[in-house]
Amino acid sequence: MATLEERARARPEAFGRTSLIVCESLVRIYQSEGIEVQALQGLDLLVDEGELIAVVGASGSGKSTLLSVLSGLDVPTAGNVRVAEWDLMTMTSRERVEYRRTTVGFVWQQTARNLVPYLTAEENVELPMALAGRPRRQRRAEAAALLDVLGVAYCADRRPSQMSGGEQQRVAIAVGLANSPRVLFADEPTGELDTATSNDVLEAMRAVNRDLGTTVVVVTHDPSVRDHVQRTVEIRDGRTSAEVLRHTATRDDGTQHEVAEEFAVLDRAGRIQLPQDYREALDLVGRVRLTLEQSHVAVRPGNRPGDRGTPGADERAAHENHARHGRRAR
Ligand SMILES: Nc1ncnc2c1ncn2[C@@H]1O[C@H](COP(=O)(O)OP(=O)(O)OP(=O)(O)O)[C@@H](O)[C@H]1O
Ligand SMILES: [Mg+2]
Repeated sequence: MATLEERARARPEAFGRTSLIVCESLVRIYQSEGIEVQALQGLDLLVDEGELIAVVGASGSGKSTLLSVLSGLDVPTAGNVRVAEWDLMTMTSRERVEYRRTTVGFVWQQTARNLVPYLTAEENVELPMALAGRPRRQRRAEAAALLDVLGVAYCADRRPSQMSGGEQQRVAIAVGLANSPRVLFADEPTGELDTATSNDVLEAMRAVNRDLGTTVVVVTHDPSVRDHVQRTVEIRDGRTSAEVLRHTATRDDGTQHEVAEEFAVLDRAGRIQLPQDYREALDLVGRVRLTLEQSHVAVRPGNRPGDRGTPGADERAAHENHARHGRRAR
């Protein structure tokens, strides 16, 4: 009995209880012309308040679907999703409007979709404030301050057609932040920009996160974004499959350098995705053999008839393969 009680006490807290964003086993199935597309296939994701993260993945992996769900535009087929105190599965349409107005801001890939063409930058930033009923004087001051944080104060009186793509996106970030949201979502905000301009926009997101404390989630197919954020989550086939964490480490001589570590993500049901090159290197398909070692779990080919999976031989094969592929197992 005592052991049972101890076990109950030691039970982990509810999934993501302290996180700002919680996605649990999210499924989104689209039906079009009788064909079923599973855009999200049991996706888990936790984001803490104050984080700046990137979600990367190939075209069609489900990134925009995830963002539509998180921004309250779309409702998933199954799973749980919560942002701050809002339960996005059960909220009413009136609550949805309130959620979108107060809790989240967005920046879209198409520069033209973010800004009203006949308004100046400052008027664009003031528009959502006016819709929220904020007094005129306060709007003026806050719009100017936001444009300043984003380094585009000099564009205040220009219309979108009088600004570059990068300037328009930085103004768009200011519009997304107009009502001080808890989270800013950006879907491919640099998709239409060249590399140098993309870097400016990503650095502007970093400034927003650092100076205003806003949680930022950037979705992109551009893997170079991982150089600008602390955490990159990779989506493959509608699921989070890997994460890259970056941190600053100190060398023996006292100098500092950036370290990036890649992890596979173990989902709540205990599944992980093996990278394709690992699967190919050892011809891992269908059945595989798992063995629990003292400090790790080994995965060996197990699909050959009569193969008893002798560790010695497999380890040699793995070793040769790694030598051939020029890198070590993660
Ligand atoms: N409204 C829809 N109806 C049917 N299928 C859809 C719909 N929206 C998305 N899909 C499908 O869902 C999958 C995921 O799409 P999604 O737009 O989320 O991908 P993505 O990762 O944003 O891709 P990209 O990098 O090209 O923007 C794709 O196979 C897509 O064809
Ligand atoms: Mg997309």
